[in-house]
Amino acid sequence: MKKLLVDVDCGVDDAQAIMMALAVPGVQILGITCVQGNTSIDNVCKNVLRVLKVCKHLEIPVFRGATKSLLGQTTSAGEFHGKDGLGDAPDPDAPGLDLVQKEGAVSAMIRIVNENPGEVSLVATAPLTNVALAVKLDPSFSQKLKGLYIMGGNTDSRGNTTVVGEYNFASDPEAAYIVLNEFICPVYIASWEFTCRSKLPWEFCDGWLAQDTDKARFMKQIFKHSMESTHSERIEKELVDGQGFISCDSYAMAAAVDDTYIIETEKRAVTVELAGNCCRGMMVVDHLDILKKTHKAHILKKVDLEKFKVLMMNALK
Ligand code: BDR
Ligand code: CA
Repeated sequence: MKKLLVDVDCGVDDAQAIMMALAVPGVQILGITCVQGNTSIDNVCKNVLRVLKVCKHLEIPVFRGATKSLLGQTTSAGEFHGKDGLGDAPDPDAPGLDLVQKEGAVSAMIRIVNENPGEVSLVATAPLTNVALAVKLDPSFSQKLKGLYIMGGNTDSRGNTTVVGEYNFASDPEAAYIVLNEFICPVYIASWEFTCRSKLPWEFCDGWLAQDTDKARFMKQIFKHSMESTHSERIEKELVDGQGFISCDSYAMAAAVDDTYIIETEKRAVTVELAGNCCRGMMVVDHLDILKKTHKAHILKKVDLEKFKVLMMNALK
C-alpha cells in the first residue's frame, strides 16, 4: 500500500491530482491538508470536500491549515481557477465545512507521519506554508517521510506569477526556502516549465472530459473557466512552448503514485531567492554546486506521458 498525505490549495488542477490518486489501486490517502493559495482557506476546504464527494471518498479526513503565508499574505488565482477556486460552478448540495476535522492541518501532518515513519509520501501542490510549519514544529518531520513531491518553482526563469516566480513559490517564498533548505528526504520537483513542456494536446482533454461518468461531468463544469482563461491573452503569455492542456499538480501526483512514470531527473541543490527587485520567490538551481549543499532535489525532466495519460483518464472513470 502506498500511503499519501496531500497538501492542496484546491484549485482545478489540485482537484485533478486528488482524483488521480483516488483512482490508483494500492494508493491510500491518509489525509488531505488545506492551505490558502488559489483561493481562501474556507474555499479550499469546501473544494476538497466537493472532490471527495464526487469520488465517494468522504471518509478521507480533511484538515484546515494556514490562512496566510508565513509573512501574512493572502493570494488568489481567481483569474484562472475562478474566485471560488473551482471555476465558480457551485454545487448547491456541497458538503458543509462541519466535515472538516477539528485537528489543524500542521499537527495532523506531524501526527500522521509519526504514526507511519518512513512510509508516507507527501504531495504538496500549493504554497508550502503548512509543510514549512511542520518541519519547524517537528525538525525530524522530513526524515520520517518517504518522499516529498512538489509542484512548484521554475527552472528557466520563466515565471507565471512574478517575472521569474511560479505561483506556489511566489505565494510564500519563505516557506519554499525553508522546505528546500531543510528537508532531507528525497524531494521531487515538477517545475512550471516542466509541466508546460509536458503538456497534452487539447484533443486529449476533449476525450478525457467526454467520458460518460459523474466525475467527468463534474470536471467539465469546474474546468470550463480555466480552459477559457488558458486562451486569454495574458495566460497565453505565461505558457512555455505554446498552447495545450496542462494539469500542473497532476505531474507531481503521478510521480508519487507510479514509480515507473519518471524517466529522467536532474539531481541538483535548489533554493529560493528571498530578496531582489524582480527575483523574490524564484527557485534557484545550483548547477555548479557553488552553494555546497549536500542535499539535492530530483528535478523532473522527462516522464512517461503515455502512463500519465492513463492515470489522467482513470481519474475520471
Ligand atoms: C500552481 O499554481 C496553482 O495555481 C496551481 O494549482 C498549481 O499548483 C501552478 O503554478
Ligand atoms: Ca495547486
